[in-house]
Amino acid sequence: MTLAIIGGSGLAQLAGLEVTRRGAERTPYGEPSGALTFGRLRGREVIFLARHGDGHTIPPHEVNYRANLWALREAGAREVVSVASVGGIRSDLGPGTLVVPHQIIDYTWGRRSTFFEGGKGPVTHVDFTRPYAEPVRRRLLDAAQACGERLLDGAVYATTQGPRLETAAEIDRLERDGADVVGMTGMPEAALARELDLAYAAIAVVVNHAAGRGESAAGVRLEGIEHVLQQAIARARRVLEALAALG
Ligand code: HPA
Repeated sequence: MTLAIIGGSGLAQLAGLEVTRRGAERTPYGEPSGALTFGRLRGREVIFLARHGDGHTIPPHEVNYRANLWALREAGAREVVSVASVGGIRSDLGPGTLVVPHQIIDYTWGRRSTFFEGGKGPVTHVDFTRPYAEPVRRRLLDAAQACGERLLDGAVYATTQGPRLETAAEIDRLERDGADVVGMTGMPEAALARELDLAYAAIAVVVNHAAGRGESAAGVRLEGIEHVLQQAIARARRVLEALAALG
């Protein structure tokens, strides 16, 4: 079964992927973020897509999530793993932590967040009680264990609109809502994957303490995160390779 990987900040290319071809796809929903890269990772068929475009120029609220997921499905993907950088709200989720979220809360607005509109088909409501595919979550955790990388099981991912970061009061509110990490791309990606019946899970890469927390008590400095991001992404990549090796 072909695996799709959507790479976020710090993962615009998948080193280790033996590329067989690159293909630009058009969809009824417009253009994906960039060309899809087809190849083999540890023997498994993989399609890679950089969420923010090859030059990292597409901000979270302007990503064409519908085109991205449609194109991946059209290209044969049935399983999708997203890698996304986040801020840590829970005190044990500091920079460098990798976690596989199990729940999501959507605070975004104005994004095209469904395929079921325009009056073309019957009204459809997908079940989203568990927004991530449990079998994919489990295999990510197994893969991490197999390659000896620390990957935490379970977090509530709050998706904010961005591109600005949050206020300290907003982070307090997200925490009261039960959120553990905060990012800008988790939704509508997860919901659209569900609508297309794609088995979807994510690795959230904590790159900073959320606004008002820890080192970000007086402000979030994302300029300083490059080193943490690179190290953590390298670890996420090892987990992805181990996942591919599981077959
Ligand atoms: N907030 C929202 N999105 C993010 C953050 C954050 O602190 N860090 C990385 N993506």
